Amino acid sequence: MKRVISVASLMIAMGVVCSSALAATPRSLANLQKAYVGETTAASKYTQFSADSSRRGFRAESLLFKAAAQAEEIHAGNHAAVLREMGGSIPQPGVYHMTPAQNLTNRQIVEMHLKDAAKGEMYERNVMYPTMIKEAESEHATKAVNTFQFALAAETQHAALYKKYAKNLGSNKIAKVFYVCPVCGATWEGYSPKLCPTCGTRSTEFKKVR
Ligand SMILES: [Fe+2]
Ligand SMILES: [Fe+2]
Repeated sequence: MKRVISVASLMIAMGVVCSSALAATPRSLANLQKAYVGETTAASKYTQFSADSSRRGFRAESLLFKAAAQAEEIHAGNHAAVLREMGGSIPQPGVYHMTPAQNLTNRQIVEMHLKDAAKGEMYERNVMYPTMIKEAESEHATKAVNTFQFALAAETQHAALYKKYAKNLGSNKIAKVFYVCPVCGATWEGYSPKLCPTCGTRSTEFKKVR
């Protein structure tokens, strides 16, 4: 009887600890869920843009979308792991629905994809992740701060790459290999540093996207 009571009191105590953790970090949990949906939607969008760009004969652009999609999947996985650890629920992954373009050339359509992607990355870089980092810091949710910082660093690279490819559209003739850090989603075009400057992972671990 005594043992049953002590197990029951332990379970109650764990429930209290868990619910107090949830109560202490409401903004971080909501932001992790929002960011998870955002990253899964971006991965879905870029995968479709990659296939569409390839079909239209823009191979270099298609590879950039493929590499960025892999990075967004890594961010989504990191956000989900932190959500799980903090006792939050993981939402349904986001799915992007590409609208068929009409009366546009292949070049115009691929340019539209690149500009759309650059706009999304700029929002994440300038507004979304900086706000989420501040809110997680104020709740002392260190792991949430960390996963948001990993994503912010990679989205900064993606924004620059999308802008560069949109600007040089038509002259990105030679498709380059991309490298993606499997831990933080950092993305490089054509070369990779020996160590990831964001998370310290060795280049031998990087995914090659070609
Ligand atoms: Fe991105
Ligand atoms: Fe990294």
